[in-house]
Amino acid sequence: INTVICRDAVEASEQVAREIIDLIRKRSEESKPVVLGLATGSTPLLLYKRLIQAHRDEGLSFKNVITFNLDEYYGLEREHPESYWKFMHDQLFDHIDIPAENINLPDGRVPRDEVFAYCQNYEKQIEEAGGLDIQILGIGRTGHIGFNEPGSSEDSLTRMVTLDHLTRKDAARDFQGENAVPRNAITMGIGTILKAEKIYLMAWGQAKAEIISKAVEAEPTGVLPASFLQLHKNATFYIDRAAASELT
Ligand code: F6R
Repeated sequence: INTVICRDAVEASEQVAREIIDLIRKRSEESKPVVLGLATGSTPLLLYKRLIQAHRDEGLSFKNVITFNLDEYYGLEREHPESYWKFMHDQLFDHIDIPAENINLPDGRVPRDEVFAYCQNYEKQIEEAGGLDIQILGIGRTGHIGFNEPGSSEDSLTRMVTLDHLTRKDAARDFQGENAVPRNAITMGIGTILKAEKIYLMAWGQAKAEIISKAVEAEPTGVLPASFLQLHKNATFYIDRAAASELT
């Protein structure tokens, strides 16, 4: 894992945005699509702001961009205030010129008995788009990436998962208390993420310092799913000083 320690989240988000913007420009000259794997949560907010700015002020077009989001809570309607569908539209998609048909997010409303086939198809769609060029990640305090909680295997694919207690506790502030947080989610797997050409994980603040040091320095283990990123040849952690404070 390469680690890039930045002054703050603004500087780090700017660097990640630059990588994405440069790739979109390069590919659009060749009339080829760019396939992005995207995350929700508080971590990528500044990155999405910067991409919107590039669209508004620098004429960057997202017409050739195809996106696949990592995850979605199971059982939420799209318009639920905490759905990741809504988050992505509010924070990014509604402000850029990406065609609606290029946007892919796991659907939290699939009937239970269709989830398995639905997830297999999500994998197939990623492949048919040409695979992920860049995967953007945050990291949860359990060490999850996407919603791959401790216990996830290295070769896991898109599937239904049970959320960890700590993850639901962290989400409780956004929902009306912990009981309102869904118990399940659909997430890309570790194996899905590791197939991406490049991976950028971002993390800010002291609360992420311990998990970042373990993800980078501990032996790769399913107890800490983000540690599997050590197996990828092109994974970079963009972190601020606080999140880097427990690296040895
Ligand atoms: C979001 C996701 C999660 C978050 C992680 C960190 O799509 O897959 O893994 O990246 O929970 O969340 P924040 O950024 O809110 O600290």
